[in-house]
Amino acid sequence: MTVIDVQDLTKVYRTGMRKGDIVALDSVSLSIGMGEIFGLLGPNGAGKTTLFKVLLGITQATSGEASLFGRPPSDPKSRLQVGYLPENHRFPFHLTGLGLLEFSARMYGMSQSEIDQRSEELLELVGMARWVDTKISKYSKGMGQRIGLAQAMISDPDVLLLDEPTDGVDPVGKIEIRKVLERIRSDGKSIVLNSHLLSEVESMADRVAILSKGRIIKISSVEDLTSRKSQYDIEADMGSRLIEIPPEIGKVVVVTARGMTVELTKRDNVNYVIDHLRMKKISIYSVTPVKVSLEQSFIETITEDAESQP
Ligand SMILES: Nc1ncnc2c1ncn2[C@@H]1O[C@H](COP(=O)(O)OP(=O)(O)OP(=O)(O)O)[C@@H](O)[C@H]1O
Ligand SMILES: [Mg+2]
Repeated sequence: MTVIDVQDLTKVYRTGMRKGDIVALDSVSLSIGMGEIFGLLGPNGAGKTTLFKVLLGITQATSGEASLFGRPPSDPKSRLQVGYLPENHRFPFHLTGLGLLEFSARMYGMSQSEIDQRSEELLELVGMARWVDTKISKYSKGMGQRIGLAQAMISDPDVLLLDEPTDGVDPVGKIEIRKVLERIRSDGKSIVLNSHLLSEVESMADRVAILSKGRIIKISSVEDLTSRKSQYDIEADMGSRLIEIPPEIGKVVVVTARGMTVELTKRDNVNYVIDHLRMKKISIYSVTPVKVSLEQSFIETITEDAESQP
């Protein structure tokens, strides 16, 4: 089931200044399914927050289509099953943590008994039970993020849009938040995560879109982005034997006594290499696609895109 669908979406901020208008989103198309954790990556100013704002009806698209659960952002019902943690949020400072949750819950029309039960659960979940009666003005940045996550989850939404959820959260808190998000996913819900913490996205997301200057330059599974499909590490008893493979199959990147790395012209060619090693009576212990970090893959994608621009 598609939860979020965006087709050819463009958002131009009219600045009225000489430097011209800003194209924050440029023909963006993507769809996100139920149960997915989807990462939105991109340099500062790429358009990530703008995409959230368009989806939530906070700002209007210039052209193109967007929908949440099949409803356009202009329909308030599209937001009924959605929780949102804004970037750089400023919740009303005079409220306590509990007050914020009650305030948010009332906007969803929840009853007092529902509010009491859900608030208690959530405050425990995000590790803020001790701070319920403290005013938000006294919260540290990480505490603000934790309470923000709780308010996003108050109505038990099916989709969470989280803009930099772990920004300012301490390392233990980051792990706790990751566990909370994994639990939400295990309940079959969807999460869209804007984050610059690529190791975090790598460990949590199923798919990511990389945005640059408002355009999607890549949309892919994390698995695909982090494996060099054409490179394989082969653990094998090479001894001092030299292996050559024809250029149409690929090339040997490195050979040691305990194995080799090959770069192949296509994935299937790994079978050729294995047959070749076996013919030479070389014992093979493992064949593994070479992995790269999401961070490295992200930087390569952004750099390649910048180089291909006129
Ligand atoms: N209200 C606005 N008026 C004019 N320009 C805006 C407005 N909001 C955002 N922009 C511009 O739109 C572009 C995209 O901004 P956006 O906040 O969506 O980026 P982002 O990917 O979320 O960046 P970051 O990683 O820094 O949070 C930027 O060039 C920004 O300056
Ligand atoms: Mg942003």
